[in-house]
Amino acid sequence: MSPRGPLEGRGAGNGRRPAAHWGEPHPLHDPWILANFQARPTDVLITTAPKAGTTWMQQILHQLRTGGDPAFEDIDQVVPWLERQRPARTWREVLADLERRPDPRLFKTHCTWEQTPGRDIARIVLTVRDPRDCCVSFYHHLWDMSDSALAQHGLERPQTLDAHLDAWLAFGAWFRNVASWWPHRHRSNLLMLRYADLKADLRGAMLQIAGFLGWSVPPEALERALHYASFTWMKANSDRFVGRNADGSPMFRPGGFIRKGQTGDHKALLSPEQEARILRRCRDELPPDCLAYLDLPGSGEPRT
Ligand code: A3P
Repeated sequence: MSPRGPLEGRGAGNGRRPAAHWGEPHPLHDPWILANFQARPTDVLITTAPKAGTTWMQQILHQLRTGGDPAFEDIDQVVPWLERQRPARTWREVLADLERRPDPRLFKTHCTWEQTPGRDIARIVLTVRDPRDCCVSFYHHLWDMSDSALAQHGLERPQTLDAHLDAWLAFGAWFRNVASWWPHRHRSNLLMLRYADLKADLRGAMLQIAGFLGWSVPPEALERALHYASFTWMKANSDRFVGRNADGSPMFRPGGFIRKGQTGDHKALLSPEQEARILRRCRDELPPDCLAYLDLPGSGEPRT
């Protein structure tokens, strides 16, 4: 499952290779963009591990920013994925486009704390989700992706759930992301929310986000934003959330990205042994207060 296929020659003619902490070049991770991005205090960075509700937060923030906008064509156009390489465009062209966008700019990123540019300048909204649900969601993600999107990103469909779990644990993005951001959760420019909290009270969470950002959202605008950020609306308009291949075709089968949107969905798929492997890794890599925050079983057990 781990993405393959580094960007051959991506740095050629683009100046020196950025410092190592910006990460390795990959179609989904362009260190030149990260190293040269100029953050503004009005920027908002959505920071998540994959499958933790990133797209939902893109939609929530775009709707709060606009007071309700049902007219956009593709969420990635209005809330771009910061570090993703854009086919046939240099990083300088990408950054020039981002530079022209009006404030407040919104970005999605899967970067760790160490890799996030402007982490002391921009505001950061971070969503965390149960790793068991993220793992299962990623399994469906790979099965729902089009053949061309898989090939473009160097991904493969897992033949078994065990094979997926092996690869998901080896890739380790969930653990890396949560472990890197957890110590910074009390910073004044960072708001950490749980996917489960959004599910339990979306209105409360959206008011909390607007308050954190200092955005004034009149009651009618909030009602519209709530409607467009609902699972029902996003599912009915899922073609706006599926991402696009270089030729403009959707990266996912119809209805395949905005999938079930539930907490605890892993119970339908993971065996007790598979679940135990994820929880063991959590206990090995995350502090007990983080496990308790995520309401993970065994958070009181000694770490191995
Ligand atoms: P499931 O596969 O469990 O359904 P990401 O955007 O980080 O890739 O996360 C995708 C997950 O968020 C998917 O989870 C998707 O269904 C869920 N999601 C997207 N929009 C949602 C919404 N409005 N409400 C609840 N879940 C949502």
